Order: sequence, then structure tokens, then C-alpha cells
Amino acid sequence: MLNGKRILLIFGGGIAAFKSLDLIRRLREQGASVTPVLTRAAQEFVTPLSASALAAEKVYTDLFDLTDEAEMGHIELSRAADLVVVAPATADLMAKMAGGHADDLATTLLMATDKRVLIAPAMNVRMWEHPATQRNAAQLRADGVLFAGPVDGSMACGEFGPGRMSEPMEILAAIEAALADGPLKGRHVIVTSGPTHEPIDPVRYIANRSSGAQGSAIARALAGLGARVTFVTGPATAPRPGGVTVVEVETAQQMLDAVKSAHPADAAICAAAVADWHVVNQPESKIKKDGSGTIPPLDLAENPDILAQISAKGPDRPTLVVGFAAETDDVIANATAKRARKGCDWIVANDVRPETGIMGGSENAVTVVTADGADSWPRMSKDQVAMRLATLVAEALS
Ligand code: C5P
Repeated sequence: MLNGKRILLIFGGGIAAFKSLDLIRRLREQGASVTPVLTRAAQEFVTPLSASALAAEKVYTDLFDLTDEAEMGHIELSRAADLVVVAPATADLMAKMAGGHADDLATTLLMATDKRVLIAPAMNVRMWEHPATQRNAAQLRADGVLFAGPVDGSMACGEFGPGRMSEPMEILAAIEAALADGPLKGRHVIVTSGPTHEPIDPVRYIANRSSGAQGSAIARALAGLGARVTFVTGPATAPRPGGVTVVEVETAQQMLDAVKSAHPADAAICAAAVADWHVVNQPESKIKKDGSGTIPPLDLAENPDILAQISAKGPDRPTLVVGFAAETDDVIANATAKRARKGCDWIVANDVRPETGIMGGSENAVTVVTADGADSWPRMSKDQVAMRLATLVAEALS
């Protein structure tokens, strides 16, 4: 529920703006009040009157409306909200946000606010994938802006791919996570997730089959209990959770660097399937087969152990560090040994023999190994595992 929460909802100028009208309804059903702000371009897609009628509030469109400045200045407007939501966030609006522009009411509010900002990007697939947009998205993530989507899907322009705005219910879930008043409110949790890719040469890499589904679910569940979550993910196929700060990395070394710069944290959950090795001295050109029948030797070195480094004693060590163990046999014995070896507090072990269908699947059967022993949970969905684990984290930090 969002009872008593105030959302400043900025409409960018995109065809997905019609979905944001529905978002107003959904937010109000949850008890939130919504103040709509429409950019000039947004008004080409939806009318201020529809937004105002659905919100039952005044709609703001113009920075230089002196009456409004007398009633409520833009600074006050940007701060009266509990959360600022931009939906749809167009490529242009994202570029302005990343560059710190303030040339209309929407961008000025975004610069002036002292509240968290959540954006739901929506644009053509090529515009989303354009290096400029990807640079801007990375900058916004680094600035602490929360993302809901975009998702893969067919678009109004007839193309298919990432760039479609999340559905109103998904944006609502991300808003609820961002505003959650749960037992983890005020806590910062780092979650690592997905595989890492270790380059062999400019076109090839070492990888594994981790989808990142369990890590995403854990991040979502922790955010749902009110935590501020930094989600450091390798190139995973699972959708990124909304309402968390997403940091995208590729290699184990980059994951370690991202985790270090996200410190301090109250807890760290290392769900990533980090590659064990990287290739030393990667060639700058693609390795060619020479027809001799011999395979080029790869000079491999061990990757840094992120979990072990986070777990090491020191002033920055999170109160709770949780590791994962993907095992194919002697699950409890191996997990118990791993807990001691890594120095973490808990190990969540799962049986990843191919016949279990767990790796890449939607279910998980885990055994949680702590200082008090091993607790085997029945097989359940990865979302349920995440909720149960997040609840245990909240209890441990309380
Ligand atoms: O050593 P192993 O890969 O079996 O341990 C699994 C646990 O250690 C997982 O929690 C994983 O995220 C973490 N890990 C890590 N850095 C590595 C290897 C594993 O954080 N280089």
C-alpha cells in the first residue's frame, strides 16, 4: 500500500504516455496521491485534462507560470513528493537528466528535487541501444536514479526488442519497492548476480549458464522490505529488478571494483556465478585457427574471490555476508566447508545437477548453512526463496 505517499509523475513525450494515465489510476488505488507534470512533447500524446481528471489534482506544465510560482514554486513542487517518477522517460529526457539540463519545468524539477527519482524508459529499440543512450543510462544509474525497465516487446513503431516501457503494474511494484517502509528501511544491501564474462580475445569469452534469476529475485525482495539495494550484475538474461540501483559489469574484476565502491553496506548477498579464471594477456586481435590441428593455449589466472574479500575482517565488513554454493554432490558438507573457507556468515547451497533443472529454471531447492547448522528448505519458486531469505536478512540485521 502507498497510503499517504505523494508521487510527482513526470510524463515525457512518447507514445507510452497513455500507459502512465493508467499508472495514475493504479497509484491512487493504492492510496497514493499523484501530481502530474507534462512536458511540452508529452502534451502531444496525452492531454493535461486527462491527467488532471485521473489524478484529481492540478497538472503542471510550464516553468514560467507565475500563478503557479505564487502558489507553489518549482523547488517546493519537487520536494513535496516522496518520490519523483518519470514515465515515459524518453531518450531526450534521459540525456537531459544525465547532462544536468534544466530548461523546462520537468528537467528543473528533476534537478531541484531532494527525493529519489525512478524512471521508466520508453523508446525505439535502436534509440535504447544507441551508445549515447547507454552512456546516459549508466550515468543516471551511477547518480542513484532507479530504473523500472525497459522491457523487450513489440513497439508502436513496429520493431521488437528492448525499449518498451514496463507495464503500469510493474512500474507500480518498483514504486512500492522504492517507498517500502519495511524492516530493512535505512539498510544498504549489496547483491551480486548473474554470470561474469571473461574475454579470451575481442570476440570470445568464458561464461556460464547462470541466468541471474535468483539474484534479481533477492534484490527485488530486499527492496520490497525497504532496503536500499545496490545490484551489481554480470551479463545476465533475467530482467533487472526495479527500485534498486543497478550496476552492470562484465568481468569478475569489474564486479569486485563495483562492489568495493558500493561499500559501506549492512549486508552483502553474493549470488553471482563468478567465473573462476580469466585469460591473462588477451590478444588485441581475434585468435585465428591455423589449420595445424593444434589448439592455442590459454594462459589462465584465478579471478579475485569477491565473497572472500567482502567477508575479510575489517572496518568495512558488512554485518552479514551471504554466499551461494552451486554443488552437484555432498551439498551440505561442501557448503559447510565453503562457509569456513570464505569467511562468510551464511552459505545458501543449491543442487545444480542438470536433472534438477535449477540452473536457469524458475525453482530452487536450497539448504541454508549458518553457524547453527544446516536448514534444508523444500523446493519452491526462486521468488519464494528470495522472500524467505530477505526475511531472514531483516531478522539478522534487526
Ligand atoms: O568458490 P565458489 O564459486 O564455489 O563459491 C561460490 C560463492 O562465492 C558464491 O557466493 C559466489 O558469488 C562467490 N564467488 C565470488 N567470487 C568468485 C567466486 C565465487 O564472489 N571469484
